[in-house]
Amino acid sequence: MTDIARTHLDPRFAIGDIDRRIFGGFVEHLGRHIYDGIYEPGHPSADADGFRTDVIELVQELGVTTIRYPGGNFVSGYRWEDGVGPVSERPRRLDLAWHSTETNEVGLHEFSSWLEKIGSDLMLAVNLGTRGTQEALDLLEYANLPVQTALTDQRVANGRAEPFGVQMWCLGNEMDGFWQLGHRNSEDYGKLASRTAKAMRMLDPELQLVVCGSSSRAMPTFGSWERTVLEHTFADVDFISCHAYYQEHDGKAQEFLASAVDMSRFIDSVVATADHVAAMRDSTKRMMISFDEWNIWYLHLPEGVEAPAPQLDDWPLASRLLEEKYHVLDAVVFGDLLITLLQHADRVRSASLAQLVNVIAPIMTEPGGAAWRQTTFFPFSITSRLAGRHAVRLAIESPTFTSERFGEVGTINGVATVDDDGTSVFLVNRSLSDPQVLEIDVTALGSGLSVRESHLIADDDIYAANTLEDPERVAPRPAEATIADGVLRVTMPAVSWVALRLG
Ligand code: AHR
Repeated sequence: MTDIARTHLDPRFAIGDIDRRIFGGFVEHLGRHIYDGIYEPGHPSADADGFRTDVIELVQELGVTTIRYPGGNFVSGYRWEDGVGPVSERPRRLDLAWHSTETNEVGLHEFSSWLEKIGSDLMLAVNLGTRGTQEALDLLEYANLPVQTALTDQRVANGRAEPFGVQMWCLGNEMDGFWQLGHRNSEDYGKLASRTAKAMRMLDPELQLVVCGSSSRAMPTFGSWERTVLEHTFADVDFISCHAYYQEHDGKAQEFLASAVDMSRFIDSVVATADHVAAMRDSTKRMMISFDEWNIWYLHLPEGVEAPAPQLDDWPLASRLLEEKYHVLDAVVFGDLLITLLQHADRVRSASLAQLVNVIAPIMTEPGGAAWRQTTFFPFSITSRLAGRHAVRLAIESPTFTSERFGEVGTINGVATVDDDGTSVFLVNRSLSDPQVLEIDVTALGSGLSVRESHLIADDDIYAANTLEDPERVAPRPAEATIADGVLRVTMPAVSWVALRLG
């Protein structure tokens, strides 16, 4: 055990109000996410619409708010019209992004009915890859307009009299990425996004629009992409997106544990760039961030390992793509990423965990069989449930370690939330080797305080995971936390994530 780490919890150190959309998710037509994931008509738990009720229950328990749909890379080749109308007449299409076959059995209507069962809101992405402004307008008119037109008549004929009322719209996906269908440079994308946003607002001025930022902080165009795109779209949009995926490289677990520093710097840089564009325009508008793809993803294969080349005669349907198995170390880093989003609640007003079921997901399913929670399920569900209305800064003094990429990094990171119902504290111990005691001065919260709930994610085997064979191997257990004389004392094992509810 090293020196005691210390901090103060004082609601006056306010960061900002927490927008519940920060606990959003993301569902893409990819692998077994929709088909053989959320939708499996032959499954014993399937409801009359073919949706697995065991999955619905887990998604509800996860506590996701707004869900981004239908992609991702998929959306950049998607024709939304394929997914409406009688299911038997819908075309089979090839999905170039994931080299798959799309049957279109699930489209806008079906997905919206799934969201209604869950109690989440829809966030729609339009295709600005292979398509453009007109198709985005058509989808918006079809989805949101309460007047009678040829398109809205179709919606009614397809069983939906009331508009879907979708508030948040993404103007394409990862348009900075060379892998994206219809990839453009920042000038071309900025102009297209501006034209499309202006046109969409002529149909529905109340929309909230998200313009594509960078696919990661490591993109060669990072920074200049945001500046140019925002120079074109500053007046037209409400959010700029950030995407980030993290993984352990070459067995460097300590370095992986510093991932949230990258996310924090990413957000700070995008905020600075957006505020620079605001300053150039003498504008008081503050562009918000939609961190609409974030997660752990073992995207980069070890050296020498190559992904199989796609075959012209093989376009599988619902194959096992991106099915990561998450362990305890992943869950701790994941919890730290959530802490980081809350630490930036003043500017991050929307975020989407990418993704939800089977595909880089907190929930896994087996066709005809069980559904289970991965390790990353727990930090998300607990944070979503316990986070209060206002985020509060914790300036923590703790030992540090040296990261190859970020220099001196504090081993303990954390954030608090407060509201009239109580206070919550979320903490992480990033040390690979040392347990840590943290003392938090909570006198500013008044007397008579007690720990009402505590949750710890840690394990002697940091690579322990939940699997089909052993679905409950990893679960949260109570943390060691007590309050005496105005001091909350928490003992955190090495590589651990802790959540506390005080009241
Ligand atoms: O979430 C998986 C993929 O990651 C998405 O389709 C894409 O937007 C990103 O590169």
